[in-house]
Amino acid sequence: MALQDLTAEQMSELKAEIRAEYGALQSRNLKLDLTRGKPSSEQLDICADLLSLPGENFLDEDGTDCRNYGNLIGLRSLREIWAEVLGVDVNNLIAADSSSLNVMFDLISWAYMWGTNDSEKPWKDEEKVKWICPVPGYDRHFTITEHFGFEMITVPMTPAGPDMDLVEELVQDPQVKGMWVVPIFGNPTGVTFDTQTINRLATMETGAPDFRIIWDNAYAIHTLTEEFPQVVDVVKQGGNRFWAMSSTSKITQAGAGVAFFNASDENLNWYNKHAFVRGIGPNKINQLAHAQFFGDAEGVRMIMRKHAGSLAPKFAKVLDILENRLGAYGVAEWTKPVGGYFISMDVVPGTAKRVIELAKEAGIVLTAAGSTFPHKEDPEDKNIRLAPSLPPVEELEIAMDGVATCVLLAALENK
Ligand SMILES: Cc1ncc(COP(=O)(O)O)c(C=O)c1O
Repeated sequence: MALQDLTAEQMSELKAEIRAEYGALQSRNLKLDLTRGKPSSEQLDICADLLSLPGENFLDEDGTDCRNYGNLIGLRSLREIWAEVLGVDVNNLIAADSSSLNVMFDLISWAYMWGTNDSEKPWKDEEKVKWICPVPGYDRHFTITEHFGFEMITVPMTPAGPDMDLVEELVQDPQVKGMWVVPIFGNPTGVTFDTQTINRLATMETGAPDFRIIWDNAYAIHTLTEEFPQVVDVVKQGGNRFWAMSSTSKITQAGAGVAFFNASDENLNWYNKHAFVRGIGPNKINQLAHAQFFGDAEGVRMIMRKHAGSLAPKFAKVLDILENRLGAYGVAEWTKPVGGYFISMDVVPGTAKRVIELAKEAGIVLTAAGSTFPHKEDPEDKNIRLAPSLPPVEELEIAMDGVATCVLLAALENK
C-alpha cells in the first residue's frame, strides 16, 4: 500500500519495522561500492587475450609500422571495423588514444582558445558561453563545462530524449554554444533518443553559427538484450553541428581501449590542425591489437553479447529488488534500461542526500547525491544513479536490498 494511504498506526508500525531492518543492516559491517559504472573483473576477462596482441606482426594492412611515430588519424584497419559497427563513413572517423573524454576536453579547450572552424572568435572572447545540459546526465560532462566557466542550462530528459521544445527555444540565443548528449542507452537514464528527437537536433535553427552537439555515443552498442540499437549517422545528417564520440572503454579495457571521433571533413580538418601540434600520433600498437582482436564488426558484436551475458542478470536483479521492496509504497520511480550501465532512480523529493547518507552509514557507497546535475546540485534532491556492473551478483543483491531499506527509511522520516 502506498505510504500516503497508511493509517497513523500502520505508519508507526512500518517505521519501527524499517528502523529495525536498518539497524540489522548496519550491524553487518558491509563494505560495498556502487559508485561508478565500471566493468567487473568478469567482464574485463572477456578481452584478456587482447593483452598478448599484436603478437609479432607490427604492420597494419596499409603497411604502417605501428611501432613508429605518425598516422595522426589512426589505423585504417581499426577505423574500418569501427565505421561498420557505427554505420558511419570511415573517412570521417578518427581513431585516437584511450579516452573519448580526453578528446571531448580537447574539443572544448581548442574551441575556447581558438574558436571552432565556424566561430567568429574564440569562445574565451565571448561575453558569456552557455551550454545545454540534459538532466539527469553524466557528471563528468558537466565537470568539463563547469571547468571552463560556461553557464549550464538544464533541460529535462523525457523517455524519447531531451525536452526538444525547450531545446529549440534555448538555442535561439547566440550565447548558447553547445549541448551534451548521450543519445543511446544514456548515462544515467538508459534512454535512447527517438528519430524525431534526432531530426530536430540536426535541423533546428541555432543563434550561434558555431553551435556544437557533443554526441557522446559511449554506449552505442552496449545492449543488455539480443537487439542492437540502430545508430544514426548524425554527421551525414547534421554536418558541422555534431562532434560524435565513442570508445572501446566498456568493450575491451576501461582506460586502455581506443577512442573514436566522427565528424564532418571541415570539423576533422580543424581538429587535426590542433591535434598535430599536440602530438605526433596515437598509440597504434594498441589500435593494431584491437583490430586483430576484433577481426571484424561481427567480432565486436560478439564481445558485446558476452558483456550482456554478465550485465543483464545484474540489472534484472536490481530491478526485481526495487519492485519487490519499493513497488507497493510509491516512494520511488526508476528506469528499466535495455542497455548501458545505469539505472536512474527518483526517490521522494528532498530525500536523495539522506538515502545516500543512510546507505553510507551502513557501509554501502552510492554515487553522491546531485552528481547527475550541473554543479552537483539536484534542485529537487531526488535523483540517484545506480551502477550495477562492478560487484558480483551476490554482493549486488545485498547492497540493493540495503539501498531499498534506506529509500524507505528516508521516505518515512520525511513524513
Ligand atoms: C557517457 C560517457 N561518456 C564517456 C565516458 C568515458 O569514456 P572514455 O573512457 O572513452 O573516456 C563514460 C564513462 O563512464 C560515460 O559514461
